[in-house]
Amino acid sequence: MSKILKIRARQVFDSRGNPTIEAEVYSKNLSSSAICPSGASTGTYEAYEKRDKNNKKYLGKSVLSAVKLVNTKISKKLKGQNIHDQERIDVLLINLDGTKQKSNLGANAILAVSIAVKKLSAKIKKISLYKTFLIKKNFQLPYPMMNIINGGAHANNGLRIQEFMIRPDKAKNFSEAMRICFIVINNLRNLIKKKGLSTSVGDEGGFAPMINNNNQALDLIVLAIKKSGFKNGKDVSICLDVAANELFKNNKYSIHSRSYVSVGKSIKEYEKIINKYKIKSIEDPFAENDWTAWNKLMKSINTNKVQIVGDDLYVTNLERLKKGFLNGSSNSILIKLNQIGTVSETLDVIRFAQIIGYKTIISHRSGDSEDTFIADLAVGTNSNQIKTGSLARSERVAKYNQLIRIEEELGNNVRMNKIR
Ligand code: PGA
Ligand code: ZN
Repeated sequence: MSKILKIRARQVFDSRGNPTIEAEVYSKNLSSSAICPSGASTGTYEAYEKRDKNNKKYLGKSVLSAVKLVNTKISKKLKGQNIHDQERIDVLLINLDGTKQKSNLGANAILAVSIAVKKLSAKIKKISLYKTFLIKKNFQLPYPMMNIINGGAHANNGLRIQEFMIRPDKAKNFSEAMRICFIVINNLRNLIKKKGLSTSVGDEGGFAPMINNNNQALDLIVLAIKKSGFKNGKDVSICLDVAANELFKNNKYSIHSRSYVSVGKSIKEYEKIINKYKIKSIEDPFAENDWTAWNKLMKSINTNKVQIVGDDLYVTNLERLKKGFLNGSSNSILIKLNQIGTVSETLDVIRFAQIIGYKTIISHRSGDSEDTFIADLAVGTNSNQIKTGSLARSERVAKYNQLIRIEEELGNNVRMNKIR
């Protein structure tokens, strides 16, 4: 048995330049660290992110009290625990906090420790991290969903929809998936330039041109796919994250234009763009409490062809996932570790989602770091897809690069996961 010797945390910075927490867990001879990510379009039911709201020195954004809690309470509690007993460690963390949304210690403090423990366990055992999750053989690589045009809360343009993504469905292996995305992104850059628009990027590395119409963004992507020599909807598919929480007021939505319309009308518009642009996946099409709207959409579209993904709806929370399953809300779930706060709880949600036949999509946050844990998590949980931004900004590319390394380690026999 390897025991935890001590845990130390520090305040570092994320990709948006905001403070975040890094925890380092020590055994006798080794240590591992992990950095917690942070979202911008967060769901109400997410676990609590502890920030020093009254500390003016960091505009209320520092995480120094969370750091202190790791260095004192958490370190004391976990000292001497078996590093390989992740479930026990996570239960100890959950109980030490004692609240539903982890608001005492902060899910950011808890998660950084939980992930660092997981990494250290693999390091001590000298096995690759991806081999330490749910599956032990027949590993498959996830399809990347690359966010190539950023809107909503992730950019300063007027685009209603938050993320316009591409998924290289034709790719037979991960390296080929990367090449396909690379080509499409380069063609998209040229098209945006030709229009005299800026090719600067948003928080997740996708372009954030000053356009304010969803269809304009979709037309650009379709053209980029075509110019790359690929077929839209076959070789490369368009996927969306609407993040509809941000577009909801008085039971109406402003998804497709600035004006707010009913759920029924919004669904009609969804049907139109699904057909016109051959869209294969829509995340958070409606708000986090609008269960009836989700179910109506599921009944209106061909769910064998289109993936409906719950992100803010489920917040990687087992109770909410069960509710969504009973309600017929979606057929896929987005997985974000910091929405729930521990590795074990995240794995419980993935396990349940897969039992009920949901696709699992592992995701970064819009504020992220050089930490590549989610790449290993995606492979080790047999998740079909990974969403970790575009081919820009090192915190995004780092995850893709880790998947390239994993593919290389697995050798010729490794396949891509099934998406349908
Ligand atoms: P967030 O965005 O990290 O800002 O929540 C990502 C998403 O909505 O999927
Ligand atoms: Zn989302």
